[in-house]
Amino acid sequence: MRIAQITDAHIFDDPDASFEGCDTRASFEAVLAEIQSLGNIDLIVATGDMSMDGGFISYRFLNSLFSVCDIPILAVPGNHDVPSVASQSSNFYFLTSTANRDFGSWRFHFLNTKKVGHELGEIDPKDLADLSQNIFSAGRKPQIIFMHHPPLDIGCAWLDDMKLENSGDFWHIVSQSSNIKAVFCGHVHQDNELSQNSVPVITTPSTCVQFKRHSRVYQIERLQPGFRIIETQDDGTFSHHLVRLKPSDDFSIPIL
Ligand SMILES: [Fe+2]
Repeated sequence: MRIAQITDAHIFDDPDASFEGCDTRASFEAVLAEIQSLGNIDLIVATGDMSMDGGFISYRFLNSLFSVCDIPILAVPGNHDVPSVASQSSNFYFLTSTANRDFGSWRFHFLNTKKVGHELGEIDPKDLADLSQNIFSAGRKPQIIFMHHPPLDIGCAWLDDMKLENSGDFWHIVSQSSNIKAVFCGHVHQDNELSQNSVPVITTPSTCVQFKRHSRVYQIERLQPGFRIIETQDDGTFSHHLVRLKPSDDFSIPIL
């Protein structure tokens, strides 16, 4: 199975708005076109902050693109998203509580880490209990978790202040299984492969603006928009790689 992870599109209601000089609609359209051109993607997983302002028009724009995309899409919310608005204005599958889907021999978990009114993340007690049950019922299936907020520090103080707040609870549950193969996150607009409890934790660049790695304070980095390809095998192994748009792919990040 081949999955494309996209994250942090930050689409505004206002079509003329930009994020650090980046036209987030144009960069997102270029990313989605690149994914579709690959031709053999089974699923797109959007790991949050698809909207910048949670506005109806921003989700309607996303929906207009997804509705003509022939790849199934599953989305989890980020801190900028407003799930109730997203569900009114779109028909792509926006998961607002802990859920899982089985694909072949694998189980994928989708977590809601949005804490209303906060930039940092939280998994509420019911979702934690459901995650625990869903991991337990998976038995020996290999499993991947998709979520917006990383459940660990990434080495950027300003972003580490807004990671998953109750990471200890998360890891307590995850550590009860030896079949969690990886955690894929967004939120931090940069490429990292870290680990905790021997579980890889991978963060994926944004489809628009990137944040500078290892910076204590907010700082952007002029790197092209990106997404991640994840390939799972029936034997429980997986691989992944990052794809960045080339400047020739109809979008170049502006010089800021
Ligand atoms: Fe975020």
